[in-house]
Amino acid sequence: MTEPRIIKIPRSLDDRGNLSFAEPFETIPFQIARIYWIYDVPGGEVRGGHAFRSTEEVIVALSGSFDVVLHDGRDESTYSLNRSYHGLFVPKMMWRMLKNFSTNSLALIFASTAYHESDYIRDFTDFSHQRAVL
Ligand code: TYD
Repeated sequence: MTEPRIIKIPRSLDDRGNLSFAEPFETIPFQIARIYWIYDVPGGEVRGGHAFRSTEEVIVALSGSFDVVLHDGRDESTYSLNRSYHGLFVPKMMWRMLKNFSTNSLALIFASTAYHESDYIRDFTDFSHQRAVL
């Protein structure tokens, strides 16, 4: 899977409230190796600003809202996340920025790899050149 897409996360709705769940290879289209979350983002701050060589991710706005801007080296698309039952699948080799965080927003991210700084590409020009030869 090489294109970003919104994944619908299952929901159990009843009078007691809502429950959502995610399992590897079911809702999440890869084996989950790591989960991290981003919170207490000051107004106007931007997160991300990098690509991953091999890591795939699913990003969920568990609370509040924010935008994920994805760039594939040619085109840019913006996904506004504000539902705890929508996940944005982000393929590897995709430049991403997370911005416009609302107050008290909480981003939950499922990742397909353990953390390795060597998997990051932090320079956009470097990223574009590597995308061009894929
Ligand atoms: P970074 O990925 O640069 O944040 P963002 O994607 O929001 O721009 O990570 C910020 C810091 O946290 C960086 O020093 C690396 C560290 N970090 C870990 O140690 N483990 C992790 O799983 C992640 C995602 C980051």
